[in-house]
Amino acid sequence: MTYQIVYSSRSTQPVAAKKLEEILADARVGNKKNNVTGALIFVDDVFLQILEGEEPVIRQLMNSISNDSRHEAVKVIYEAQVDAPAFGSWSMAYIAPSSEEVKAWSGFEGADNINAVVDHIHQHPHNVPEFLVNILDTLAS
Ligand SMILES: Cc1cc2nc3c(=O)[nH]c(=O)nc-3n(C[C@H](O)[C@H](O)[C@H](O)COP(=O)(O)O)c2cc1C
Repeated sequence: MTYQIVYSSRSTQPVAAKKLEEILADARVGNKKNNVTGALIFVDDVFLQILEGEEPVIRQLMNSISNDSRHEAVKVIYEAQVDAPAFGSWSMAYIAPSSEEVKAWSGFEGADNINAVVDHIHQHPHNVPEFLVNILDTLAS
């Protein structure tokens, strides 16, 4: 089984390209070591990250990530046990979509900003697998 978690957070400062590169480099090095895969989405100063791996590894990583001063308001919005990782080919995929795109992925037409999309995802966990499939489709295109 693979443990999957999705959280949202807000960057503490407007994130410059260099900062993002550092975060991604940290993530990819750590994840290769720990057999973790996933995707990092950055939109309007909000991070949405999908992490997958062994449950104890992911729990410990979530703990480290929560204490990272490069972002704040870390909120877990979805957790599941799945048969296999969805993002198995990515130590950490990166996408910087528009908030419109994220809204379309979530299937939530009523949202007018990224926070509303995040709240919607949190409140409708049964939609998350479809949300993840839409992200995978974007990565594949
Ligand atoms: C938005 C964000 C996403 C991150 N994603 C990961 C990740 O996927 N894997 C990882 O090992 N570190 C990630 N990090 C870095 C961790 O917060 C932390 O710096 C790293 O795991 C080293 O932690 P340690 O000093 O407790 O060992 C991320 C940091 C931020 C700000």
